[in-house]
Amino acid sequence: MTCRRGALIVLEGVDKAGKTTQCKKLVQALQESGRPAEMMRFPDRTTKIGHLISSYLERKSNLEDHTVHLLFSANRWELVPEMKEKLEQGISLVVDRYAFSGVAFTSAKPGFSLDWCKGPDVGLPKPDLVMFLKLNPAEAEGRGEFGTERYETTVFQRTVQSRFEQLMKDPSVNWQVIDAARCIDDVHTDIKEHTVNAINKVEEQPLGDLWK
Ligand SMILES: Nc1ncnc2c1ncn2[C@@H]1O[C@H](COP(=O)(O)OP(=O)(O)O)[C@@H](O)[C@H]1O
Ligand SMILES: [Mg+2]
Repeated sequence: MTCRRGALIVLEGVDKAGKTTQCKKLVQALQESGRPAEMMRFPDRTTKIGHLISSYLERKSNLEDHTVHLLFSANRWELVPEMKEKLEQGISLVVDRYAFSGVAFTSAKPGFSLDWCKGPDVGLPKPDLVMFLKLNPAEAEGRGEFGTERYETTVFQRTVQSRFEQLMKDPSVNWQVIDAARCIDDVHTDIKEHTVNAINKVEEQPLGDLWK
């Protein structure tokens, strides 16, 4: 007997859109309803590559822009075997940021095309569903001050938002835009419904290859 694979569910959005809050609530709700689920986040700062990224984000080290882009991608690739194994075991993965953030952030820097940025992530496991938590920059600013990490500035986040909008025009990815300006519970209800539908659908579909 073959068991049904888990679904690969990604939450994306600019800083403070509520991704981490919603990923945690979603995993808990799925587990409580008897659906095996685990949370992952990118960058995963616990690996060797993750340590390099973390030090860069905390401004403790400087890295050349292409180099750091490739490290973020490598950090996703190094976790692919573990992701595939879990999905095959029937565990759904709820992922806090993925390749879309990688591309949106680097392509917000001067001199980086969207196409160049997508290159290293071509062929990653393709999410069954990508929910984009949409929150306009003014509302995000209302959720408190930005921290001190690299990229945490209003101007940069606005450019990131416009890169996400370009990525969402790609119909090969199953995008779902979620209005993240509502209260936490209303956003959660919406996200859970889309996720349960995706989990129920993956039975018929093999895991795809991103941007291929
Ligand atoms: N729907 C919401 N309404 C108001 N505040 C929220 C909402 N969702 C999250 N927050 C708050 O906004 C901040 C950022 O949320 P977080 O989940 O860390 O966002 P992200 O992971 O996208 O950066 C946190 O203080 C969180 O409690
Ligand atoms: Mg977060």
